[in-house]
Amino acid sequence: MTDLELVDLAFTMLERSYVPYSHFPVGAALLCSDGTVFTGCNVENAAYGSTICAERTALVKAISEGHQDGFVRLAVVGNSVDYCWPCGACRQMLYEFAPNLELLVAREDRTFVKLPLGDLLPHGFGPKSLN
Ligand code: THU
Repeated sequence: MTDLELVDLAFTMLERSYVPYSHFPVGAALLCSDGTVFTGCNVENAAYGSTICAERTALVKAISEGHQDGFVRLAVVGNSVDYCWPCGACRQMLYEFAPNLELLVAREDRTFVKLPLGDLLPHGFGPKSLN
């Protein structure tokens, strides 16, 4: 799957978002090395802190379906003027399973930035940090 196809797939997830509080839909699409793609959207909650972001939805779907490694690329998209940068909690969760993940971060005009997760979370704390 090309970068553009992964970004387009993430955009299709915006309509699945449950965002009655922020009205800020986010979509995600996570590509595995075997070609499997897991999609995600943000799901909010009246207890705001219980909200789950689109990236973590995609990641947790992947893990719960038996994919714990081999993550290659993740598209994160929003209908925002600025690029839809992953929040700190998502950066940390992704680092646990895919410290070398490539990110495609898009904005409303569908242009996107491609960069490694390590650029957004340098010197991250991961499983090896516990040794
Ligand atoms: N959001 C995401 O889905 N991913 C991020 O990395 C940033 C924030 C969602 C959470 C909330 O539903 C909305 O965007 C506004 O913060």
